Amino acid sequence: MRHEIVDFLASIGISRFEFEQLNEKVCKAGLEREFLEENWFHPQLYELTQGISCFYDFKVNFMEYLAKFIGNMKGTKKHIVDGGCATGIDISFLAMQFPGHKFFGYDRENALIAAAERRRKNLGIGNLEFSVETHGRATKKIPPADLLYTNGALGSDDGNTAVEVGKLVVGICRRVRSGGSYILAGMSEGAGFLEMQTEANRNSIFLIRTDIIGNFGAEIAYNYLFRVRPQ
Ligand SMILES: C[S@@+](CC[C@H](N)C(=O)[O-])C[C@H]1O[C@@H](n2cnc3c(N)ncnc32)[C@H](O)[C@@H]1O
Repeated sequence: MRHEIVDFLASIGISRFEFEQLNEKVCKAGLEREFLEENWFHPQLYELTQGISCFYDFKVNFMEYLAKFIGNMKGTKKHIVDGGCATGIDISFLAMQFPGHKFFGYDRENALIAAAERRRKNLGIGNLEFSVETHGRATKKIPPADLLYTNGALGSDDGNTAVEVGKLVVGICRRVRSGGSYILAGMSEGAGFLEMQTEANRNSIFLIRTDIIGNFGAEIAYNYLFRVRPQ
């Protein structure tokens, strides 16, 4: 699976590089520094940053983790949602790998979802839909999830406190159907990340950087896994 992920990323122009090369890459792509400082979620910049070694390794490991998780889900036509999907890289790969399930990606940024939709069309992925939404404001477009995952989408860059992150988690949790699962992952999701409580009747898995990087295969030992009693 790892090779497929790496090949897929390369096919959409994402290859691993060291952080020191970022400036050079930004210049080569013809992007202006000042513009980027104001537009951190510019689709082209976002995708460029995904090649930085630490982000890249985390992404590959998490995609591998998700592919394994989805592969173990019983039944077909499950609803799998990527919350804060940006340009939809991970979910596009997963949708192609698992044509029997239905995939949905949402993000609060219009420009990122527009780029995700362009990719979906280019790759001809039929079992995938995107929409502009926030964690807390679900539209009817996305049905209750059997699995909802987020990667780096809990706003820790904005300095969210545990309480604020907790509110986001509640919004996310409401998108998950009773008995479904949510996986919240991130490189640096904030101090409160590991203390989050789950809502009843959903299964949550919290993954942080150290859980995944270099530790794939040992996820059960490293993960913080909260199984919640059925109601
Ligand atoms: C660091 S990026 C990670 C993107 C992607 N999940 C990945 O793994 O590469 C965080 C993304 O989450 C989105 N985001 C942050 N807070 C959000 C919210 N409350 N609702 C929806 N999207 C959100 C941002 O717009 C951004 O695209």
